[in-house]
Amino acid sequence: MTGKSLGIAQVGTGAIALANHLPGVQVASHGEMVALCDVNQAALQQAFTATGIEKVYTDYRRMLQDPAVDAVIIATPNIFHKEIALAAIAAGKHVMCEKPLALNYADALEMQQAADKAGVRHMTAFTYRFVPAMRYMRHLIQSGYIGQPYHFRVNRLQDWGDRYMAWRQSMAMAGSGELGDMLSHRVDYGHFLIGPIARLVASTKHLISTRYDGAGNAYPSDVDDWVAVLAEFESGVTGNLESSKLAAGRGEGGKAQDYCEVNGSEGTLIYYLGQPNTLQIGKRGGQLETVAVPEEFLKVPGSPRDPHQGDPVQVFRYDQDFEFIQAIVEGRPCQPSFLDGVLVQGVMDAIQLSDREKRWVDVPKLSAN
Ligand SMILES: NC(=O)c1ccc[n+]([C@@H]2O[C@H](COP(=O)([O-])OP(=O)(O)OC[C@H]3O[C@@H](n4cnc5c(N)ncnc54)[C@H](O)[C@@H]3O)[C@@H](O)[C@H]2O)c1
Repeated sequence: MTGKSLGIAQVGTGAIALANHLPGVQVASHGEMVALCDVNQAALQQAFTATGIEKVYTDYRRMLQDPAVDAVIIATPNIFHKEIALAAIAAGKHVMCEKPLALNYADALEMQQAADKAGVRHMTAFTYRFVPAMRYMRHLIQSGYIGQPYHFRVNRLQDWGDRYMAWRQSMAMAGSGELGDMLSHRVDYGHFLIGPIARLVASTKHLISTRYDGAGNAYPSDVDDWVAVLAEFESGVTGNLESSKLAAGRGEGGKAQDYCEVNGSEGTLIYYLGQPNTLQIGKRGGQLETVAVPEEFLKVPGSPRDPHQGDPVQVFRYDQDFEFIQAIVEGRPCQPSFLDGVLVQGVMDAIQLSDREKRWVDVPKLSAN
């Protein structure tokens, strides 16, 4: 790519588009948001108000015919990811798709294979790979700072109570509840920090059958509200993962509990999303200390954003859109790609199977391609 700025279209202009992708694309220098698409007029209007982008569509198929659109960011309810991604790929557009990539492993694999065959760039929005502390943690593990890794441990605890969650509380629309919504990111932490998960045993719990909106209207919910997993990575590292939105008093979002710990033969690393620019580090025989993430890890290389500006719990998210655009411009695979989405989806399917059959399950193995 030379000269011309890459034209990006946002499909699904709801909460995460407004919070992450619309401002994220604005920060990146080689891309420009040129079109917005949503089936809901109120959502479109809100995105127009936030961005001033006048080209709006209610049908993604029409939007994909627009020659100004080089790439799309899909942030719709999960059930629509596959059909929109496949249509975009068929139209020759590069695609970033929100997590979870699809409703199941087979669909995710189909998306990845279609994108590779078409030669378009593809990315799964595993946003938390871009947290400075997470990137630094990976560097320390890979450089041997904590020796041989033994244990990987995460939990994500929030307080959503019984409030209305729209499509998120429908198995048909979301494919799962807490598993796809929150645990999928933490499975990706495991893959990012340690490598592939090989086998697991899991349990989920559906605890809230009725959820209420602000006016007190009741809506049925049929998804898992809690999920816990014991896992073994291919390397032999143990995994212990838990996620719930029913941890009363824990708060919500970036400031609520999102904890990740890795213990190795020589030390321990602890990450909290709420403190994204620090890590807790302990060396064998010593005490945990809070350490600032070095300057070079505060943003991805080349990102034009000033890492000292804005709320640190929010601004790292913009590097995700930078990475999507930069990979297209540089003609290289995005990190994380659809392949990472497929790997996580394989673990998610294994979790659901293990929960149903109450037994250890092997995660599908993907041959390198
Ligand atoms: N990476 C992250 O950190 C993160 C955070 C939140 C949500 N997500 C993911 O982002 C996606 C969207 O979540 P959200 O919280 O923004 O949901 P949301 O409900 O706020 O927004 C979804 C939008 O998609 C629109 N939509 C539905 N069908 C459509 C279609 N066929 N074509 C165009 N637009 C359509 C809806 O009208 C709505 O405006 C989900 O897959 C979710 O898992 C990711």
